[in-house]
Amino acid sequence: DAPNSPNQGKQRLLTVANRLPITIKKNDGQYTYGKSSGGLVTGLSGLPDSYNALWYGWAGTQVPEGDVAKVEEEMMKDQGGVPLWIEDDLMDMHYNGFSNGILWPLFHYHANDMAFEEEPWEAYVEVNKQFARRIAQDVRSDDIVWVHDYHLMLFPQMLREELASGNTTNVKIGFFLHTPFPSSTEFMKLPYRERVLEGLLHSDLVGFHTYDYARHFLSACGKVLHLTTSPNGVTFQKKAVHVGAFPIGINPEKELKLMEKESVIQRVTGLKQRQYKDKTVIISVDRLDYIKGLPHKFHAYDMFLEHNPDQVGKVILIQIAVPSRQDVKEYQVLRSHISELSGRINGKYGNVDYQPLIYCYTSVPPEELIALYTMADICLITSTRDGMNLVAYEYVTCQKNNHGSLVMSEFAGAAQSMKGCIMINPWDTGEIMDGLRKAIDMEPPQRQQNWKRMNDYVQKFTSAYWGTSFIEELMRIGSTHIQEVRM
Ligand code: ADP
Ligand code: G6P
Repeated sequence: DAPNSPNQGKQRLLTVANRLPITIKKNDGQYTYGKSSGGLVTGLSGLPDSYNALWYGWAGTQVPEGDVAKVEEEMMKDQGGVPLWIEDDLMDMHYNGFSNGILWPLFHYHANDMAFEEEPWEAYVEVNKQFARRIAQDVRSDDIVWVHDYHLMLFPQMLREELASGNTTNVKIGFFLHTPFPSSTEFMKLPYRERVLEGLLHSDLVGFHTYDYARHFLSACGKVLHLTTSPNGVTFQKKAVHVGAFPIGINPEKELKLMEKESVIQRVTGLKQRQYKDKTVIISVDRLDYIKGLPHKFHAYDMFLEHNPDQVGKVILIQIAVPSRQDVKEYQVLRSHISELSGRINGKYGNVDYQPLIYCYTSVPPEELIALYTMADICLITSTRDGMNLVAYEYVTCQKNNHGSLVMSEFAGAAQSMKGCIMINPWDTGEIMDGLRKAIDMEPPQRQQNWKRMNDYVQKFTSAYWGTSFIEELMRIGSTHIQEVRM
């Protein structure tokens, strides 16, 4: 870096993820750049600027040769984004086919009738290779490479292979999985299970959101590869690979700042004093994904209204469903199922003056999201499996004045840290119904006490805390790379 560069003297950090912080869209020949949705982007966007960081990821689409430089320049402005130009058909097989067609359902215990075919796997291998080749071109001695999520599980091994002949073999590689790691019996369904585990085990540190996920991973290493494991690592090819839990968080300051904006304050006031005056508002924000348990939620809400007639006309559920992975069949099927369910609920309980369910299949801008979190009395999360779920933390942060209740699935990673939420089993309709009733009836002092416990956690275990603890651990163990794991 240039002598006066703000990055001078900072540790170089190459972040590698399938998704970049911004996504390109082309409208009428013009490119527009929108913030990407999802927990990975939220978490990584909160990393402290004490690193000299670049963020490598898939460009999102191919663009004509003449537009590449312009797009690259725009991407670089947003958190040092470096787009990889991968051919659309190959990416389709990698992203829709293997990553979201096989690994995502498998890791969320949703692998019902999955067909394992060679072509998506080969695309997965090829895209991992392309990422490794690209990063190998830029990596320097003493860099940290931090790779993220299930799209790139072969990457650590491939990068090591790319670097094997050069002078950058001291590069530290960390891997973080943003999804659950399933129980070893579930994981063992994967025909490529050895390759995937070996791919990961070329990292120095492998991190998960919770101890349970880390334990499942270690157990898979023992059962599939017959490796020796300990609670904090595994020995692979005579090297210690460290394994640990690093729960991700959010950047609450960013939310609090948005909450204070005049436009947000006015929006909240307008919603509370006009549209939803004297109503109890339940908010739900999810990518439209089958892991989020929307059918379970809608069914339970239907039953709740049926069994609590005093609440009909008083309670409103706002469901923001952010469009996601629309080329994958399961997501298309889910979309039409959810529209049908929402129509049914409104038909059954609604009238000219009252709509019990406001279902929006759309992505909302950050300020609107904050306004919705702030004005809602209850947040309802019904994921049947979820790596962490950052919506929970965002809601808690925005409730600093109202102390609304969080009704939350025990199957989301965040449930382990949200002592103070009303915990529910999303498969149990009765529990969701009781959870909602409890939230509606709870007295303010109890709500405040619950909120405080949750908020103390969210303010302390932020995305910056997560990133720094992972990177510091990686730097610390990097120097002991060759040691055997403690038993
Ligand atoms: P997942 O990673 O499965 O989508 P999370 O709840 O962990 O689930 O993370 C979702 C993240 O996406 C949250 O931080 C939420 O604020 C963010 N988000 C939701 N809607 C949008 C949007 N329209 N644009 C950008 N980010 C969004
Ligand atoms: C989850 C995954 C992320 C992904 C995000 C959004 O959080 O763990 O890797 O980026 O969902 O999904 P998408 O497919 O749009 O990147």
